[in-house]
Amino acid sequence: MKRIGVLGSGKGSNFGALAEAAREGKLPVKIALALTDVPGAGILDLAAKYRIPADYVPPGAFRTKLSPEAEREYARRLKEAGVELVALAGFMRMLKPPFLEAFPDAVMNIHPSLLPAFPGLESWKQALDYGVRFAGCTVHFVTPEMDAGPIIAQAVVPVLPHDTPYTLHARIQAQEHKLYVECVKLWAEGRLRVEGRTVAVSA
Ligand code: GRF
Repeated sequence: MKRIGVLGSGKGSNFGALAEAAREGKLPVKIALALTDVPGAGILDLAAKYRIPADYVPPGAFRTKLSPEAEREYARRLKEAGVELVALAGFMRMLKPPFLEAFPDAVMNIHPSLLPAFPGLESWKQALDYGVRFAGCTVHFVTPEMDAGPIIAQAVVPVLPHDTPYTLHARIQAQEHKLYVECVKLWAEGRLRVEGRTVAVSA
């Protein structure tokens, strides 16, 4: 079975969705390692629940990226665990070319908007403020540019008249949990091929 790693900084609900699907046999991967840059992140508790090896790895002195040494350590730990795909699940730091080149076309991210609309932080708030009628989420391969890599799949949700940032984010997250499992499954089945800007999905 293919081995994947997950990086997360937050509550880890996407990690939980992947772990649950793998446990139920609906996702043919072994989650070999979960790493976080935040001590006490939810992902650590969830990993313990699913008996997935997990660790906090200090990110270094920067706020929005890993230090070069930290990034090497993340890559080393993932390689040591035999990881072939790195799934970012709410990991709040940019990854740089040395890391991305160590996992070519094999770093995935989930973003809470219909990219290329609303990259960056709190995209569901950006969507509400803008007044769009539909929001959603995107799974894409990661490139050095933020939230800009080749898109694998998207899911759409309506924006409802009385939505708050909280209710809209919850509706988006419910879709995220399904979409991320589907995309990692497509990868595990060898059905994704990056062709320049786009991703070809074979039957
Ligand atoms: C998700 O909304 C994801 O799209 C974004 O960060 C959030 C992580 O949530 N990249 P969780 O930690 O998986 O619950």
